[in-house]
Amino acid sequence: MEEALPHRAAELLGDARRVVVLTGAGISAESGVPTFRDDLTGLWARFDARELATAAAFHADPDLVWGWYEWRRTRVRRAEPNPGHLAIAAIEARIPGTTVITQNVDDLHERAGSPAPIHLHGSLFAPRCVAAAAHPATIDDAADADADAPDGEPAQPHDGRRIAPPRCTSCGTLVRPGVVWFGEMLPEAAFTAAVEAAAACDLLLAVGTSGVVYPAAEIPRIAARSGAAVIQVNPEPTPLDRVCAVNLRGTAAHVLPSLVAAAWAADPAPRS
Ligand code: OAD
Repeated sequence: MEEALPHRAAELLGDARRVVVLTGAGISAESGVPTFRDDLTGLWARFDARELATAAAFHADPDLVWGWYEWRRTRVRRAEPNPGHLAIAAIEARIPGTTVITQNVDDLHERAGSPAPIHLHGSLFAPRCVAAAAHPATIDDAADADADAPDGEPAQPHDGRRIAPPRCTSCGTLVRPGVVWFGEMLPEAAFTAAVEAAAACDLLLAVGTSGVVYPAAEIPRIAARSGAAVIQVNPEPTPLDRVCAVNLRGTAAHVLPSLVAAAWAADPAPRS
């Protein structure tokens, strides 16, 4: 039997004028994109992903690191947005002052209809060269075919396959993934916009994040300190529980559409 959605959560969303939605890997889990901390061992049996997500790892073995990111990019390209992503796009359509902030490097929010999510940790689709004044690089989609099983087959764990990264066409240095690695700064403009949105919102929805990676994990806390209500959607408890007005223990694809439906059940017209 499905647990009833707490009335308080629907009320908070129904009354909200400025909403921030902060997402983590859990929002894309039901699209088949693996999270980091849930099933790292199953997907990444031979290497520790956290040890690969560093500039030092790329310099030590660029082909291994590029191969892993190509594998992830191919998985994302084959994934589709789920009802959780779509519900977030519906909130944005309904409440103009909504900001979507994601820690994810996939493009599933965009493909669900979110016009401009803030990517705190970069993107799998924006590689750049390693030069100090980095040049953006274009992606060779033909390389995808080798990075994973053929379409229609279940995704396999990455097997450590190496793929040589391309060279920058402007300066000749290696091209690297356009993501934030451990030990690197977040993109400044993205982080500033995220902090400003969190400080000015009246409701923050934290969806599918373990809330342990900083500074992104500070965003819900900034909203709470600024007087916003925080609602969390996550099947598991997290350190964010205690800053939340409501904790909805369920999956994003399940809970978010119910929340959206309940919030506007009595008033189906979009707010002007
Ligand atoms: P994590 O893998 O740390 O946490 C995923 C969270 O999603 C967990 O709390 C799960 O309980 C929850 N979850 C799993 N399935 C879910 C579902 N279907 N619906 C809702 N929630 C679900 O991912 P993040 O918090 O995003 O950083 O990790 C933060 C950062 O750590 C990532 O952006 C990445 C990683 O290292 C960088 O790469 C810089």
